[in-house]
Amino acid sequence: MIEGEIINLRAIEREDVPTAHRWVNDPDVIHWLTMMIPISTVEEEKWFESTLDRPNDHHYAIETKDGTYIGGLGIHAIDWSARKAMLGIFIGEKEYWGKGHGTDAIKTALKVAFDQLGLHRIWLFTYDFNERAQKSYEKCGFKLEGRFRDDKYHEGKYHDSVVMSILEDEWREMQ
Ligand SMILES: CC(C)(COP(=O)(O)OP(=O)(O)OC[C@H]1O[C@@H](n2cnc3c(N)ncnc32)[C@H](O)[C@@H]1OP(=O)(O)O)[C@@H](O)C(=O)NCCC(=O)NCCS
Repeated sequence: MIEGEIINLRAIEREDVPTAHRWVNDPDVIHWLTMMIPISTVEEEKWFESTLDRPNDHHYAIETKDGTYIGGLGIHAIDWSARKAMLGIFIGEKEYWGKGHGTDAIKTALKVAFDQLGLHRIWLFTYDFNERAQKSYEKCGFKLEGRFRDDKYHEGKYHDSVVMSILEDEWREMQ
């Protein structure tokens, strides 16, 4: 259990799979994510099993202080030589959007990344229309790095992806 201000990060358990399966089939949630087609229960279970064999991808469940499971966060593709990784996050319970839980989860994960894992650079991308995510990342100290042009085809239009990152010394200055 890793404690944030208003959330905790914990390991993902098999019992979480049905809830996560509901989220990744909710059009309002996947609107913001890379997945596009319905995900079966079997696929979701296989995804859970695959997390057990991927030491360079750290997956966390996000829960409120009263233990409600509300989303997931990953520190992905950890490169121990360049000491970098990619962060991914989603709050699946929609009533928790815009209430600071995602932002607190990211801040908590950055502390893990820089103070526990010894990483140097955390990067991420989001779609240009995801203003809430960009604001959240800025609040956590991420800086705009560039754009992947026409990276997402969404509702009949191409959209850029916005690439952001934070370096260890930038994060330390904010503490
Ligand atoms: C993106 C996400 C992680 C942000 O976490 P959060 O805890 O909801 O974010 P916050 O509540 O701290 O809000 C961040 C900022 O966005 C603003 N905001 C909230 N809702 C907004 C909306 N619908 N549109 C634009 N800005 C919005 C807030 O005002 C806040 O800025 P402020 O603190 O200066 O007022 C979370 O909303 C989420 O998981 N969304 C769905 C999935 C997703 O988009 N994942 C990211 C994919 S890259």
